[in-house]
Amino acid sequence: MFYVSINNLVKKYGELTAVDHISFNVEKGEIFGLLGPNGAGKSTTLNVITTLSDFDKGEVIINGMDIRKDKKSIKQLIGMVPQDIAIYDHLNALENVKFFASLYGLRGKKLTQNVMEALEFVGLSDKIKLKPRRMSGGMRRRLNIACGIAHNPQLIVLDEPTVGVDTQSREHILNSIKLLRDRGATVIYTSHYMQEVEEICDRIAIIDKGQMIACGTESELVSMVTDVLSVYVETRIPVEFNRETFCKKVKLMPGVKGIIIEDSLIRVDISVEQNSIERIVQEFISHELPINNIKSEVPNLDTLFLTLTGRELR
Ligand SMILES: Nc1ncnc2c1ncn2[C@@H]1O[C@H](COP(=O)(O)OP(=O)(O)OP(=O)(O)O)[C@@H](O)[C@H]1O
Ligand SMILES: [Mg+2]
Repeated sequence: MFYVSINNLVKKYGELTAVDHISFNVEKGEIFGLLGPNGAGKSTTLNVITTLSDFDKGEVIINGMDIRKDKKSIKQLIGMVPQDIAIYDHLNALENVKFFASLYGLRGKKLTQNVMEALEFVGLSDKIKLKPRRMSGGMRRRLNIACGIAHNPQLIVLDEPTVGVDTQSREHILNSIKLLRDRGATVIYTSHYMQEVEEICDRIAIIDKGQMIACGTESELVSMVTDVLSVYVETRIPVEFNRETFCKKVKLMPGVKGIIIEDSLIRVDISVEQNSIERIVQEFISHELPINNIKSEVPNLDTLFLTLTGRELR
């Protein structure tokens, strides 16, 4: 039995279908990642799972219970770390975590013990008296996490928990998430950082415009595009250069899967079979684009996303 089972979930906001027949299963004790660009429907999906939002169609089963029928029992199992930091500015770190943990019925010694453990877990045990307005962005993110996990939930749902934090805090957060999994929690986590998802997730669902476009382990997903090679060309683009025409032309070349221009770096994804590097180089020369450097890379989740959607992840 899966711990979380989502079948054909549909959530609409008026005319907009934010989640469009999404289905996936999460096993007990795994970190499951939802990867997708802005507006993909990640937060909407999480809000449904955490009972914060209703939905139009489909089925959501958590630990064998139907979310439409057993909302109250399901709520008790879940810890939510929202994308928009939800902590109280007038309460210090300790008071914030205490408040959220007490909402789940923790009292007395158990409450104090869990709260201290959660603060220790996110590396804030020496900052318990500090109020959020005097914290750095990374500390506020970590406090937000402590508030979501202090009641020891079986299912932890984290919505972009590393946005706007420095490398050190990010590493701390990612390691903490792995530790929560290793302690037996099931984790659902969203991000639009491909590297993060690759680093910590056991399985990944890629969603775009409300639809699921691929799901599996990292190697399963990458094996969908092993016939693709990403070619990176460093160039210098003149101001008057027409990017759109160039991209259109390159896209029409045999074997080309996609092209992205980012400042002076042009990335062309090509099929390995129809190796078209030579023809691409010719195209650069005929457009008088200098080739300062050229390298090719094996596929990753970015490659998959570009191949399936024609766009870049971010
Ligand atoms: N309360 C709302 N009312 C109307 N539309 C909404 C609401 N919340 C989200 N949407 C729309 O639903 C779509 C999906 O939004 P959602 O927040 O789920 O995306 P996301 O994948 O979490 O994006 P991000 O990476 O920016 O957080 C977007 O087009 C968004 O504008
Ligand atoms: Mg979101």
